[in-house]
Amino acid sequence: MTDESTAKSTAPDRYGVMGYPVSHSRSPIVHHLFAMQTGQNIQYELLQVSPEKLETAVRQFQRTGGKGLNITVPHKSEVAKLVDHLSERAATAGAVNTLAFRGGEIHGDNTDGIGLLRDIVVNLGVSLEGANILVLGAGGATRGIIGPLLEMQPKSLIIANRTLGKAEALAEHFSHSGTVSACRFNAVPVDEVYNLIINATSAGLTGEAPPYPAAAISKSTICYDLSYGLKPTPFSIWAREAGAARSVMGWGMLVEQAAESFNLWRGIRPDTAAVLKQLSVTV
Ligand code: ATR
Repeated sequence: MTDESTAKSTAPDRYGVMGYPVSHSRSPIVHHLFAMQTGQNIQYELLQVSPEKLETAVRQFQRTGGKGLNITVPHKSEVAKLVDHLSERAATAGAVNTLAFRGGEIHGDNTDGIGLLRDIVVNLGVSLEGANILVLGAGGATRGIIGPLLEMQPKSLIIANRTLGKAEALAEHFSHSGTVSACRFNAVPVDEVYNLIINATSAGLTGEAPPYPAAAISKSTICYDLSYGLKPTPFSIWAREAGAARSVMGWGMLVEQAAESFNLWRGIRPDTAAVLKQLSVTV
């Protein structure tokens, strides 16, 4: 074997996460831990790509031998247009967070919903059957989680958003379930207790705390921020101060959705509990 072919056979398979901004993402650390745990030879990069460069960047990554990408804010809806094969759950979500490059084709999937559910139901031990759920935000992140949340058979699911039309469009998209409705932040109904409030806005990325509906929180409400940080996010601080039973950041979802992506790419599901422990996150 020549030196060159030896180098080729041991070169790590390339993966990465594309977003804008993306510097906050901890996906590289999580996938690095998965790779060490499972003995997979991969490299995983942070790729900051602006919306107008998305298509070029994805195709270039594919052309240069990249094996897979995670897709994050704000590209999850747009990237769905670039894929050759869309999974059913990604089609339902209208959003893609995982690309796999195989045989010259792009496969698009969405592991956000299953990742969130595994964290809430398995890691946190919360049952969503018959629950009242409030989701804040109506962008790509919300699209990815509504279908899986509805599969848990909640009693109601309300989508509240700054721009009412976007929340209404999403509620309409899932209207077959009969449990989804839409409103603005200042019109969230508070006649019933919410078991779960999920922050799916991207406001926290810029440190903003939008006018969340504090009256929606009761002593038994679990508040879950899809965002995560080393310091508490504005939403998680707000939720704690408003008296929520628990205020949780999305570290568990990050690890669980990443494990699903890793499984799609490598055919092996890492032990997520061990990685959560390594990240020093209490679940
Ligand atoms: P993502 O993929 O994270 O969902 P997105 O599709 O850009 O990203 O959606 C961002 C969401 O965060 C939207 O619901 C957006 O509200 P609008 O639909 O009104 O734009 C919400 N969002 C972002 N910044 C916000 C802010 N400062 N206050 C309230 N909502 C905000």
